Amino acid sequence: MQAEINHTDVDAAAAEAAIRACVRRFYELGGVDPLLGPIFEKTISELEPHLEIVANFWSHALLGTTRYQGTPFGVHVNLPVEPQHFARWIEIFRVAAKETMPETLSASAIARAEHMTQCFQSGLFPFKDGEGRPSRVPA
Ligand code: HEM
Repeated sequence: MQAEINHTDVDAAAAEAAIRACVRRFYELGGVDPLLGPIFEKTISELEPHLEIVANFWSHALLGTTRYQGTPFGVHVNLPVEPQHFARWIEIFRVAAKETMPETLSASAIARAEHMTQCFQSGLFPFKDGEGRPSRVPA
């Protein structure tokens, strides 16, 4: 007798595959981006394990799996990044997500990424500079 196909497992496996494709595409695009590429080059020592961690993060965020147990904000505190890097990051993420994920999943991923982009920036740049722009230090 043929085993019954569990549609939940099939959907979950497809979603996991889409997440991995999205993460890979994001770093392909980010790696050649003039603003983000040099930062990724300098700060990501080994790409494959990093892709795995980030895919696990998205699986946790979007599918509720438990392979990712970290806290992403802390990893970004000492990076040489400014608000314009976050603007580019989210631009590239939107492209990668739309290219690789079914629409409902990409919409959730983009909404979550937009929210985290805002939260990271509130944490990293809590002050305003003389011109009213977000800053790490008081004016
Ligand atoms: C300026 C924008 C950003 C840059 C340059 C950046 C860069 C990096 C780098 C260099 C790492 C560590 C790599 C390693 O140690 O192997 C990292 C980790 C990570 N990033 Fe970003 N990132 C940015 C924004 C974001 C945003 C908005 C998210 C939101 C989803 C995010 C999600 C993650 C996650 C989940 C990790 C893994 C954290 C862990 O190791 O526990 N990043 N990122």
